[in-house]
Amino acid sequence: MAKAIKTIGILTSGGDAPGMNAAIRAVVRKAITNGVTVKGIKRGYQGLLNEEIVDMQARSVSDIIQRGGTILGTARCLEFKTEAGQQKGAEICRKHGIDGLVVIGGDGSYQGAQALSRLGINTIGLPGTIDLDIACTDYTIGFDTAVNTAMQAIDKVRDTSSSHERCSIIEVMGRNAGYIALWCGVANGAEDILLPEKYDFNEQNIINNIINNRKRGKTHHLIINAEGIGHSTSMARRIEAATGVETRATILGYMQRGGSPTCKDRYYASIMGCLAADILCEGKTNRVVGYRHGEFRDFDIEEALAMQKDIPEYEYKISKLLAL
Ligand code: ADP
Ligand code: F6P
Repeated sequence: MAKAIKTIGILTSGGDAPGMNAAIRAVVRKAITNGVTVKGIKRGYQGLLNEEIVDMQARSVSDIIQRGGTILGTARCLEFKTEAGQQKGAEICRKHGIDGLVVIGGDGSYQGAQALSRLGINTIGLPGTIDLDIACTDYTIGFDTAVNTAMQAIDKVRDTSSSHERCSIIEVMGRNAGYIALWCGVANGAEDILLPEKYDFNEQNIINNIINNRKRGKTHHLIINAEGIGHSTSMARRIEAATGVETRATILGYMQRGGSPTCKDRYYASIMGCLAADILCEGKTNRVVGYRHGEFRDFDIEEALAMQKDIPEYEYKISKLLAL
């Protein structure tokens, strides 16, 4: 029989992402509506181990839907990767009467949730990462804001690149995944898009592309480089030396993680947060919420972690031909 849930906890873990606050708000308010008490855990699993636990009411999440970051704070916590850390975490949950936990984060955070579930604490994961690198879902909280922020920044760099007839290499985040680079590359009309999943490390192809584009009358050359490839500054030096075209590197960095979430991130995070609260209240555990093939749904964590995701081939082909 499903365990009756009286109190749930909520934490954000790993890198912050715009829309996490909308998800926190939704979880808190839906759980309260379902008659369940909610406790906020500060600073991810580290805060759980430090017992940084606060009561949350509907008013605790007022005026946050439009804010970037996470009001709960987040952290990366090595101790929680150990069995002792996980057992301590489960004990602290029990001590505070927390029988269900919503974890907002990425794959790493899901593994922490999985460990707690094994130790008897019902857990549900919500996909919070700008990287879009969670295989079970076509959408992750924060990606939409991040790509819009990056796209606007890249438009600005493009202006200068055009004025000075330069080549610009712009490095975007994404850890080992190229989704931010792909989306910005297409949306910003980049001449070259370098994705960790596809890049062959043959710089001569880029050099040839720049030289050929000059011959075709293009006055600037925009290269979107993914963080997973990196080395944009040294790449710029080599490309300038080989082509004679002035080349500059810009690393966008953490500006991509911050800022007010887009409508899509607020909306999806709100729906997913409510779904997570409902699933927990139904007594389910070891699940993650995702958006796949046009619907919001939940998956078993093991299944979700075992799933693979890759850059869609057709989208990749298009990204290569549109900058003709
Ligand atoms: P993300 O959740 O965005 O993938 P991380 O991989 O940094 O980010 O993971 C966030 C946190 O989740 C880690 O700092 C750690 O506390 C916890 N975590 C990661 N991997 C594991 C694991 N294998 N077992 C238990 N907890 C983990
Ligand atoms: O997962 C989000 C992300 O911003 C990645 O794109 C990046 O690789 C990483 O986090 C940076 O992590 P940190 O905040 O620990 O520097």
